[in-house]
Amino acid sequence: MPLRKVGITGTGSYVPEDKITNADLAKMVDTSDEWITTRTGIKERRRAKPGQATSDLAYQASVRALEAANCSADELDAIILGTITPDMNFPSTACFLQKKLMAVNASAQDISAACCGFIYALRTARALGATGDANKVLIVSAETLTKYTNYEDRGSCVLFGDGAGAAVIEPTDNSTEILDTWARADGYSEAAMSMVLRNGGSQSPFSQEALDNKEHLIIIRGREVYKFAVVRMSELIRDAAARQNVPVTDIDWIVPHQANLRILQGVAERAGYPVERFYINLQKYGNSSGASVGIALDEAVRDGSIKDDHLVLLCAFGGGLTWASATIRW
Ligand code: ACO
Repeated sequence: MPLRKVGITGTGSYVPEDKITNADLAKMVDTSDEWITTRTGIKERRRAKPGQATSDLAYQASVRALEAANCSADELDAIILGTITPDMNFPSTACFLQKKLMAVNASAQDISAACCGFIYALRTARALGATGDANKVLIVSAETLTKYTNYEDRGSCVLFGDGAGAAVIEPTDNSTEILDTWARADGYSEAAMSMVLRNGGSQSPFSQEALDNKEHLIIIRGREVYKFAVVRMSELIRDAAARQNVPVTDIDWIVPHQANLRILQGVAERAGYPVERFYINLQKYGNSSGASVGIALDEAVRDGSIKDDHLVLLCAFGGGLTWASATIRW
């Protein structure tokens, strides 16, 4: 059977109301608005309320994506949810989301690919749609990183925020089409441990000692991640353009993982792509891991930046290590 053409028919996003500004952080650790702004570009980020779980954020983003796609929850064949901050170790956060949506005809699964969660989910959804194993697939990436942030570590606490991005993927007759996806991982080198949350899994179950050592919180080696990000993201862009047989400048918009403005400036320079055509909203939300690409994509669609027929590239790097891209004709 020939593979079917699959596209994105609706997007949605959600960020919690509560904000953490750079001034708020300067009251918690030895930092300043000036340092955070010049080193990262971030001005503020969002924080989920104590009772707000990852699936609650995912639900809000999903409702918006379903509405945009004119799709009801019971039409969904599959839910694929990227997160590194799940509601519980199990059941999957996708199952909690399924219940909130009452998507009673869908399979539900999580994907753990850190900041690449949205693109890894999209890649899997495209395969399900192309083969005919599913028709309508909801992809979501949602994170509540602020619940796992060490607010005594100035090197990481200034970066993270919460949010969710979603999209409906399905076979389509109109011009929109996911043309290409690419994903890789490096779990084998020493660099794989440059972003970790050590405690709470089978290797290190919860313990008082781990809590005292703050091993239940995120640890990153920022500088190492920075170098990896610049090299891998610029390769992703050049390789994605080459697979379409076009120069990188033919890509109308790049929607990147929103980690750090300086990383994106470095990537743009190395890839030979104008930084003005990166869709950037990290100043408002910080790094919301896998959610960031989904949120930025939804904002770019809703504010009219992305228009019909545009060539759009999503790209990300993250913990694992992972890196991934998706090229879409809008
Ligand atoms: N305020 C003031 N000073 C700070 C702060 C801060 N918030 N953080 C670090 N510094 C200091 C350091 O202590 C160091 O001081 P020293 O020279 O006296 O030792 C100095 O600033 C420079 O530190 P670097 O770590 O070299 O600073 P850098 O320019 O690399 O910026 C940053 C650090 C922002 C973390 C950057 O490396 C970065 O963005 N890396 C990528 C991180 C990332 O995006 N990770 C994503 C993964 S998240 C995930 O997967 C869930």
